[in-house]
Amino acid sequence: MFVDMHHHVIYGVDDGPSTFEKAQAMLRKALENDVSVIACTSHATPGIEPFPMDTYLQRLTEEQQWCDAQGLGIRLCPGSEIYYTRSAARLLQEGKLLPINRGDAVLVEFSPAEKYDPIREAVRRLGNAGYTVVVAHAERYDGLHDIDHIRDLREELGAYIQINAGTILSPGGFLRKRWVRRLMESDGCDLVGTDAHNTESRPCRMKACYQYIAETWGKQTADRLCIETPASLMGLD
Ligand SMILES: [Fe+2]
Repeated sequence: MFVDMHHHVIYGVDDGPSTFEKAQAMLRKALENDVSVIACTSHATPGIEPFPMDTYLQRLTEEQQWCDAQGLGIRLCPGSEIYYTRSAARLLQEGKLLPINRGDAVLVEFSPAEKYDPIREAVRRLGNAGYTVVVAHAERYDGLHDIDHIRDLREELGAYIQINAGTILSPGGFLRKRWVRRLMESDGCDLVGTDAHNTESRPCRMKACYQYIAETWGKQTADRLCIETPASLMGLD
């Protein structure tokens, strides 16, 4: 049913699950949430620490084989959540970082205090290198509090805006709640990701989020954010 393009389910490579057993619990949680495709977006910090490509790909295969053996019907796709640095485009082109499902889309995050101009410059640089930027949890950045900046990134630079399911369900404050409402009403959000890291404090909450969006902004919007746009960005049939 749902396509989750932001999910830290590969064990032992970032601040997601530390063991295979914990990853299995996350995959069961994804199944409970009717998630059928997951982009496994482990953190990558280009120029700071090499992405552990061999370990990541080996564990992706191991987790996919477990899903298949259990009959979960979940498809795992490669990817990474790239903390933007000036090395990002070069390392992507050298194959040392993973675009989403090995296509053109890249999931990119910034420091929460990042201002708008550096974010815009990063999106422009990656765009010039041939990548479509998906801004991870766009609700976090100081530079994107102004909805006009979101519009500029989408309309002028072709970026996509991802919001965390947990933020839509629990905005955590008046200002962020107002920002989410304004973003949704201006059609400025392109997709929802769960950004799941575990099954307790940062769980997959896709099903509840889909239902909330459908009730609040309509089923068409919920389908676009939780299924259609992420599927299209991942090049799924
Ligand atoms: Fe993340």
